[in-house]
Amino acid sequence: MASNYKTFDVEAIRAQFPILTREIEGKPLAYLDNAASAQKPLAVINALKNQMETSFANVHRGLHTMANETTAAYEGARVKVADFLGAPKTDNIVFTRGATEALNLVAYGLADEIEVGDEIIISQMEHHSNIVPWHFLRERKGAVIKFVPVSDDGVLDLDALKSMLSAKTKVVSLVHMSNVLGTVNPIKEIAPWVKSTGAIFVVDGTQAAVHMPIDVVDLGVDFFCMTGHKLYGPTGIGALYGTMDMLERLRPFNGGGEMIEDVFETHVTYNDPPHKFEAGTPPILEAIGLGAAIDWYRQYDPTDIHQHEMAVYYHALDGLRDINTFKLIGDAPNKGSVLSFNLEGAHAHDVAQILDKYGIAVRAGQHCTQPLMTRLGIHSTARASFGIYNTLDEADRLVEGLKKASHFLS
Ligand SMILES: Cc1ncc(COP(=O)(O)O)c(C=O)c1O
Repeated sequence: MASNYKTFDVEAIRAQFPILTREIEGKPLAYLDNAASAQKPLAVINALKNQMETSFANVHRGLHTMANETTAAYEGARVKVADFLGAPKTDNIVFTRGATEALNLVAYGLADEIEVGDEIIISQMEHHSNIVPWHFLRERKGAVIKFVPVSDDGVLDLDALKSMLSAKTKVVSLVHMSNVLGTVNPIKEIAPWVKSTGAIFVVDGTQAAVHMPIDVVDLGVDFFCMTGHKLYGPTGIGALYGTMDMLERLRPFNGGGEMIEDVFETHVTYNDPPHKFEAGTPPILEAIGLGAAIDWYRQYDPTDIHQHEMAVYYHALDGLRDINTFKLIGDAPNKGSVLSFNLEGAHAHDVAQILDKYGIAVRAGQHCTQPLMTRLGIHSTARASFGIYNTLDEADRLVEGLKKASHFLS
C-alpha cells in the first residue's frame, strides 16, 4: 500500500522555511539550536496570517459568525493535538502557555494530595521546569524530592528508580528525552512500576514529541506535556495531556472567566476539564498555529524524520571525534539528535560565539539543568541540536568551525 507521507527531501523542506535563507556574519545561517526553539514553516506563518486576516474574535462566548469560526479553529487545534499524542478524547488536552506551565499546572493542582513526608521522584537529568514546581510542593507541603541518578554516559539508573519506589511515592515525574544528553528514557517500561505503587506518572515530553511518535495511552502515563515552539509552531502555546480521572482530581491553576460553571458570593463551581484549566482568553492564534504545525509535521513519515536527524547527528559526531579536545556529553545507547559537548580548556560560551562568526547557531550554558551539570561535574556545555531541516553540509560546517575554535581556544 502506498503511504500518504510526502517524500522526505531536505531541500524541499528547507524551502518552506524563509528564515533559513538568512545570512549571519556574511555566512549562510546553519541553525543548530532546535532543542531551544525551532524555526517556522510557511504553513504555520500563513495559518496565523490567514486567521488574523480573515476571521478573528474571542472564542467560546460569541453568538456571531467570526466568534463561532474562531472557536471552531481553536477547538479544531485541540483535536489535532489529541490525535498527535494519541489521547482517547479531545477533552484530555488542556492548552497551556508551554511545557513549563503544563508542569506547574500539574504540581500546583496535586498539592491537596500531598502530605508531609510524601515522596516525589524525579531524575538528575530533568529540566528546571520539571524540578522547580516540585520544589514548590516541597516548600509548601513538606514533600521530599528524590532524584534518580544518571550514569556518566547519561543513562537513567532504572534499578535505582525501582528501589526508590515505595508506598510513600506520590508522584514520579520524568523527562522522556533529555534536552542536554539526548537520552530517551524507557517510559513505557517504567509506567507499570510507577502504577504498581499507586503513584501518579507525569512525563515531560517537550523534546520527545518533536522526535518520535507519541501514544500516551500506549506509554501508560497519567500526564504528558509538550510545547509548540519546538515543534515548528508558535511560542506561547503548549499542551498538557491528562487522563480524565486525573484532570478531574486536579485543582484548577488559574481562576477567571470560562473556567467556571457558576460564581456566587459564597462559592464557585468549576467547568469540566479541559476548560476548568483555561481561565480567561486563551492563546487562540497560538493554538491555531500549533494545529497548523502539527498538520505540517505529520505530512512526513516519522521514521524518515528520525533517520534523517540521526544521520546528521552521527555525521557531525564522526567528524568531531577527530578533534582531540572534543568531549561528548551524553552517549546513551538510545538517544535523539542532541549533541552536547565541550572542548577541553575552552568555555562553552566562547565556543558558541566563535561558531556564530561562521553563521552557526548553537546554544551554550547549563540548559536549565543545573543538577545535571553538578552530577556530571561540569559548569556548562555547548549544544548542537538537529531538526528536520538540517543537512550533512551543516554538520560539516559545525565540524570545521569547531576545529578552528579548538585551535583558537586551546
Ligand atoms: C526537556 C524540557 N522540558 C521543558 C522545557 C520547557 O519548555 P517551555 O520553555 O517551552 O515551557 C524545555 C525547554 O527547553 C525542555 O527542553
